[in-house]
Amino acid sequence: MAAQLILSVLLEAEKVLAGGLLTDPDQREELSQVCERLCLQFHSPTRRLDDLSYRLPELVAVKIAIDMGIFDTISYDEAGLTAASIASTLGIDTLLVERVMRYLVVSGLAHITTTNTYKSDPCVKDFRQGGYMRDQMIFLHDVHYQVFPKLADFLAETKYRNPDDADSAPFQMAMNTKEHFFEWLGKREKQQEAFNCLMQTSRGRKYPVKWPEIFPVQKRLSHFRGVNASKGIQYVDIGGGVGQEIETLLDTDIPDVVASSSLDERVPSHETQRFQLMGHDFFQPQPVKGADFYFLGRILHDWPDIQARQILSHIRDAMDEHSVLLVHDRVLSDVPNEIYPKDIQADFIMMAIFASLERTETQFRELFESVGLVLVQIWRPERSFESRQAVLEIMKT
Ligand SMILES: C[S@@+](CC[C@H](N)C(=O)[O-])C[C@H]1O[C@@H](n2cnc3c(N)ncnc32)[C@H](O)[C@@H]1O
Repeated sequence: MAAQLILSVLLEAEKVLAGGLLTDPDQREELSQVCERLCLQFHSPTRRLDDLSYRLPELVAVKIAIDMGIFDTISYDEAGLTAASIASTLGIDTLLVERVMRYLVVSGLAHITTTNTYKSDPCVKDFRQGGYMRDQMIFLHDVHYQVFPKLADFLAETKYRNPDDADSAPFQMAMNTKEHFFEWLGKREKQQEAFNCLMQTSRGRKYPVKWPEIFPVQKRLSHFRGVNASKGIQYVDIGGGVGQEIETLLDTDIPDVVASSSLDERVPSHETQRFQLMGHDFFQPQPVKGADFYFLGRILHDWPDIQARQILSHIRDAMDEHSVLLVHDRVLSDVPNEIYPKDIQADFIMMAIFASLERTETQFRELFESVGLVLVQIWRPERSFESRQAVLEIMKT
């Protein structure tokens, strides 16, 4: 009886959704989380474990489809393409194309028509040339999928000690290197480019609420103008990648920001009207002293406590009594059952690549206190679905 009722409700929902009515991203996210929880109830224990065990081949099939050029070849056209015509366009084996296409169909990335032709699902446009998911897949395949299969061996070998040595993480074992991930990455153009693109595009997707919408920039800037009304606001983005965060701030319509982004050493210095890009290694003393804001976006989670303290100590030494350090990161709740799946995935990625972690509120507080900084306030977005992002406001003690 219950099953019948649930089935009729779900079938009705399916009909409504087929009309494409649901466009609000927050509503979609909320509903998909409910559906995921429902699926866990519907699946038998065997099915749940089976689904878990077979994720890797599916992801590799997607990477193969990208490399073969399949996503650039198939389209949403109702008529679709046969495996033979896809194979002939790409100059590859029909049987292999057929097998890859079958995997894409069961993954929901392609559809098979009544005439046995293949057409793509609209979502795969981001796997095409220039699409952001393409960079993500290249990066995940070339790094994560090489490292994760070794994580279990690494932990067994190190007798299940929590990884915390930045120079001897599962990454170094899997890649057979002594280099830190960022040193290794800097020598690989394709992966570095994919990483930079991923960082640029993922900020908006992984943290849908931009940090200036969480931290009251305007209000705090007025506070700083009050302290020293004659000068512009100086904002230093440390470890700013290719400057993606500066763009976010410049978008906020704040007229007099003098933003200087400290990027890694490889980025050549150059200046524009409103900001200056500087090469800077954050393990060296911070050259911009007494700035209004220092900003660390997605930096501390890359580093275990020893290195995180070194980075923070250099910033503390540069801060004056009015300076504020802003840390934008995932900040896990101290309450264990307030868990967001994406945050837990990210935590394991940090473990595998960096021997690092996604920190809880308490872990962040203790980290700052250990270097003479104090967490003044935790700013969180009003609503967050995918991750517990926050902006931490920190000052000198
Ligand atoms: C996870 S990314 C975050 C980038 C950016 N803050 C963002 O949120 O989009 C980490 C950044 O730290 C940079 N980085 C790594 N080691 C560094 C160092 N020693 N000094 C300065 N930047 C470094 C990397 O190049 C990379 O751009």
